Amino acid sequence: MSIIPDNNDFKTEHNITRKNPVVKAESLDSDKNFENSIRPKSFEAYIGQSALKETLKITIEAAKKREQPLDHLLFYGPPGLGKTTLAGVIAEQMGVNIRITSAPALERPRDIIGILMSLKGGEILFIDEIHRLNKVAEEILYPAMEDFFLDMTTGKSQTVKTLRVPLPKFTLIGATTKAGELSGPLRDRFGIIHRLEFYTEDELAKVITRTAGILNIEITEEGARAIAKRSRGTPRIANRLVKRVSDFALVKHDGKITEKVANDSLDILKIDAFGLDTTDRSLLKLIIEKYDGGPVGVETIAAAIGEDVRTIEDVCEPYLLQAGLLQRTPRGRKVSPAAYRHLGITDRDINDQKSLWN
Ligand code: ADE
Repeated sequence: MSIIPDNNDFKTEHNITRKNPVVKAESLDSDKNFENSIRPKSFEAYIGQSALKETLKITIEAAKKREQPLDHLLFYGPPGLGKTTLAGVIAEQMGVNIRITSAPALERPRDIIGILMSLKGGEILFIDEIHRLNKVAEEILYPAMEDFFLDMTTGKSQTVKTLRVPLPKFTLIGATTKAGELSGPLRDRFGIIHRLEFYTEDELAKVITRTAGILNIEITEEGARAIAKRSRGTPRIANRLVKRVSDFALVKHDGKITEKVANDSLDILKIDAFGLDTTDRSLLKLIIEKYDGGPVGVETIAAAIGEDVRTIEDVCEPYLLQAGLLQRTPRGRKVSPAAYRHLGITDRDINDQKSLWN
């Protein structure tokens, strides 16, 4: 009989399973692992969200001192701002494993029950898009989050019995782009709720320089800043653009990303000075040209530009709203005067357009 455990996790006296950092196996042979390898693993390497980082550091320190798992945490905000990355940093700092899943993958009761029952003490369960969790899964989660129990029922109608199955203490980290769509009872069970903010140009330039360093891409400070300007306040977009621009730099130039190389490549990719792509611009143009600047319903916009409503609401709109180009009103979406200016559309163009329609 082997007495060597199949991993080198160890338990503290309070039954929290901690990872042995020496034996963390990471294979670098797939894209997923490569993506993970550019994810920062510490608060020092994680750029931006400074206020949030400071409060998290204190929360983590306190939980460690008490030898207790962290309170359940909810992160909300637009996609691509680093909610999953931050959950990974927290796990790393707590020295525990993280299990990552998303609400659409927890369709059947047995999906969520299976994950909960496989957790070890202190581990982190990360559920992305938690606003999409179905009612049954949510109700399974309530006692699990609150008292670390699963309420299982056996038998039928009159002989039905409820069995309370204990679970190890764990931390749930939920992430959502739509905090408003979370049910009240679920939201109330999170001890800590934080919003992630869009990144400044400075912060994005640092993210870009860091990623370029990991990818062995040569980039100047001005090159990083040029990409940062067009990254919509979002590190995920910044990281994607570094790779795309690097392709251009390699094929059309000497491989180095300078300000000019970055700007020329981004122009070719049709990403404008605000970071808007063709979908964003078609959305704004549609509202201006066909609906007189709005208001118009999101379903109508989606049908007209051939995108689904969720992509428009979750991906396009947060930045357009933040940039002051679009407004949400009870009667639908409206563009702002800044959107006309950005697209170079004047009153005269509008009048010409109207005379064509009338
Ligand atoms: N990559 C993605 N998000 C990041 C962040 N906040 N800091 C550093 N690198 C990142």
